[in-house]
Amino acid sequence: MSEGAAKKEEKPRKFQAIRGTRDLLPPETALWNRAEQTAHQVFASFGFGEIRLPIFEPTELFARSIGEETDVVSKEMYSFLDNPDISNLEEARDAIKEVNPGIAAVGKQEVFELYVSEFISQIEAGLAGKQLNLSSKAQSDFDIVKARFQELLALPDSKDEDRHNKRRHLTFEIIIKVDLLKFGERVSLRPEATASVCRAYIEHGMQQLPQPVKLYYMGPMFRRERPQKGRYRQFYQIGAEVLGGSDAPAIDAEVIEMVMTFFDRLELQGVQLDVNSIGCLNCRPKYVELLRAALLKVKDKLGPDSQRRIETNPLRVLDSKLESEQPIIATLPHIADHLCEECAVHYAAVKHQLKMRGVIYRENWRLVRGLDYYMRTTFEITAQGLGSQNAVCGGGRYDGLVELLGGPPTKGIGFAIGEDRLILSLQESGKAPVQQGRDVYIAWMGERAQATAIRAAKDLRKAGFSVELPPVEQKFGKALGQADKLGAKYALILGDNEVSEGLWTLKTLADGSQAKFTEPDLLEHLSMQKALSS
Ligand code: HAM
Repeated sequence: MSEGAAKKEEKPRKFQAIRGTRDLLPPETALWNRAEQTAHQVFASFGFGEIRLPIFEPTELFARSIGEETDVVSKEMYSFLDNPDISNLEEARDAIKEVNPGIAAVGKQEVFELYVSEFISQIEAGLAGKQLNLSSKAQSDFDIVKARFQELLALPDSKDEDRHNKRRHLTFEIIIKVDLLKFGERVSLRPEATASVCRAYIEHGMQQLPQPVKLYYMGPMFRRERPQKGRYRQFYQIGAEVLGGSDAPAIDAEVIEMVMTFFDRLELQGVQLDVNSIGCLNCRPKYVELLRAALLKVKDKLGPDSQRRIETNPLRVLDSKLESEQPIIATLPHIADHLCEECAVHYAAVKHQLKMRGVIYRENWRLVRGLDYYMRTTFEITAQGLGSQNAVCGGGRYDGLVELLGGPPTKGIGFAIGEDRLILSLQESGKAPVQQGRDVYIAWMGERAQATAIRAAKDLRKAGFSVELPPVEQKFGKALGQADKLGAKYALILGDNEVSEGLWTLKTLADGSQAKFTEPDLLEHLSMQKALSS
């Protein structure tokens, strides 16, 4: 087969968006933009400022905040080693392996020692200059290399068999560790943004600002979950956090009021707010033990997931959607009855504050949330038309998280809205935008007319109209057909006659009527029509 024929047969791969990711296309994106614009307006009206965060952060930031044992951290993160440029280190590593002093040859041991010492100093220089990063595992491997190397150097030079064996053993261990040593830091695509906001709060010394600091964000998050309607691996959140100051219940209530105002502004249908308090480090552990004891008594009646959770995280059993477990869960002790005095007072005050704001809520004692950093207030909002993935917003209080990340003791509360689900719900209730039409389609013919058309397009766009200017000349009939397909309101007809007379023809596509205008009159006419129709 000729090379050309072979090339023809080889069909290029058809690429598709990766499972769980998707393209957002017009006209749907207009609805996304409307939701985001509304968020900017509503959140700003509550005194929040926008923060834009990195898409990836050290894996450890998420592990420490969200919790090692949570599904998000233990199963769902997209993580990778962020390799620095280590070509010089790779060469030094290869050199060590190639010397292989195990095969006794005069001088080999000395060369080996020289290479290892060079390798160690290169890493130390890299670490000191911050060009290199070692994970905690790599750091401990490196410490072993250094320790074994010191032992090797300390061995007296003698032909004694024991010492010879010891030397071989140490050399071998050094080669293996050097070979396995991984450079770079493990980083993860962010599965959520609360941890990053806390990291940024600490990094930028925001505790010096007037407290509390009120921030909001929007953007993609990544979780390797099983994709289904309303659940994606790349999804979008619009979230807000209040950091610092006090833990006054009015703050909890105002944050909830803000997200409800946002949903109201978008006319989201079937909105249901559930609230709960999951206590604090003082009272929750006692409740968890009580719950565990109650669960152990009914263990046999529970499914395998809940059975496992009795040990790992009994609170998560309350999350179970398994039909057969519902009657059992209904008999379990309620956390509200086991809150400490401070938590009980706080929870009652949050509910009172919600009432003062006219926010309608339902108490849901089973609302525990799946991330470790929460304490006291938790809440979730569901909306219409979403099927099983119906939580459109989740949030809660997380006092102590900033401290856990090395910052000062700081109060915190916030929420995140699942934007994909928000849009789905809006679409289901008929809020989908129609294809955005053009205001004016310019049908031009002839070179002179094109120059005029370009100028007309520029002026109309400047005046705020959406204009379609065909790149090549078309017959008028075809141009008008095209204008119709694009949903244009008007066709501006520019031929030789129009250009030489200075009178432009404007056709209203809805009724087919036509009128002639001078250039300034046309702009005035269109602006007036626009004002009348808006
Ligand atoms: P979360 O409950 O994990 O909380 O997520 C918040 C919302 O993001 C969910 O209610 C849901 O609407 C949406 N969401 C989560 N996973 C997916 C997915 N795979 N596909 C589509 N939508 C999804 C948090 O992320 C916390 N950081 C919220 C928070 C902020 N708490 C305090 N401050």
